[in-house]
Amino acid sequence: MTGMLKEDSLKGKTIIVTGGGTGLGRSMGKYFLELGANLVIASRKIEVLEKTAQELEKETGGKVLPIACDIRKYNEIENVIDKAENKFGKIDGVLNNAAGNFISPTERLSNRAFDIVIDIVLKGTYNFTLAAGKNWINKKQSGTFLNIVTTYAWTGSGYVVPSACAKAGILAMTRSLASEWAKYNIRSNAIAPGPFPTDGAWKRLFPGEVAKKIDPLQRIPLKRFGEHQELANLAAYLMSDYSAYVNGEVVTIDGGEWLHGAGEFNGLEAVTPEMWDALEEMRSKK
Ligand code: HXC
Ligand code: NAP
Repeated sequence: MTGMLKEDSLKGKTIIVTGGGTGLGRSMGKYFLELGANLVIASRKIEVLEKTAQELEKETGGKVLPIACDIRKYNEIENVIDKAENKFGKIDGVLNNAAGNFISPTERLSNRAFDIVIDIVLKGTYNFTLAAGKNWINKKQSGTFLNIVTTYAWTGSGYVVPSACAKAGILAMTRSLASEWAKYNIRSNAIAPGPFPTDGAWKRLFPGEVAKKIDPLQRIPLKRFGEHQELANLAAYLMSDYSAYVNGEVVTIDGGEWLHGAGEFNGLEAVTPEMWDALEEMRSKK
């Protein structure tokens, strides 16, 4: 549960984290600062970003630039890139982390509700990727994209269908650009986290009575949630030059959750040792 990389592993790098004012974005950004990076955090609520920036600067001694930006709006992203370059000189990495999500039977969604999630998650991520990628290519600079998806990006999932569609799109973009933009020294990778408690996710995905009906812990073979530092370690590695040869990868960090759900007989963990004894006895009598 402690930091994994060597001191100064990200020294001199400037990294933009979308949605960096809260939750997992904040935790990953904090570790980037501890490793010597300059941090730019961008999302809609400037008051949240400013508070986080102050806290993180105090906690780490690093430099944080908070910038209001709705990632659905391309011109606001261009503004983030301009301001980040004016303050820190150049940008080295973009962590596409911002998202919106909620649970609902799909037939209850309005088309606007579908749009709202797709626009934040998929359009917001491709907007940022396009703006930052063009900027790096025009300036002949290398760069690293790291995109936060989820494990249902490839399995799909009911009740979060707009999010599943959007995350699947991000995964396809990650792999596509890993190939296409490698010639510009731009790497693209993704992380697929399982459940890591955050206020933003928990209040929307496990609200009130729902949390009593589904216990996400039961789905995880390791029987615990992820620790933010565990995710931050992986993100820092994929942002750092230590992963210079990793390109187009999606790394799952979910305690084995999605495979546990997929494996035909994994439910047999419900069979007690006594039942196995009885089964063995029946077998040996044959
Ligand atoms: C059904 C809903 C809804 C809900 C909103 N809508 N919430 N429909 N169920 N729970 C509908 C509204 O009725 C409206 O449609 C449309 O969506 C837009 O709603 P607004 O409230 O106007 O949108 P807005 O204020 O912009 O809010 C966006 C948001 C919100 C996505 C709905 O939750 C948000 O800002 N989220 C950002 C942070 C976040 O979601 N974090 C969690 C990420 S967790 P109509 O037709 O009525 O106008 C995550 C984890 C994945 O991704 C994996 C975990 C294991
Ligand atoms: P969170 O704290 O709610 O983070 C979401 C962030 O996105 C917020 O900071 C929000 O800031 C920002 N955002 C939303 N709409 C935006 C927009 N239009 N423009 C710019 N920023 C916007 O939730 P989290 O749990 O940390 O999630 C972070 C990432 O991890 C997401 O990609 C999520 O899908 C992924 N993930 C989380 C889990 C988990 O268990 N927590 C599991 C798998 C994947 P503003 O409101 O200020 O805009």
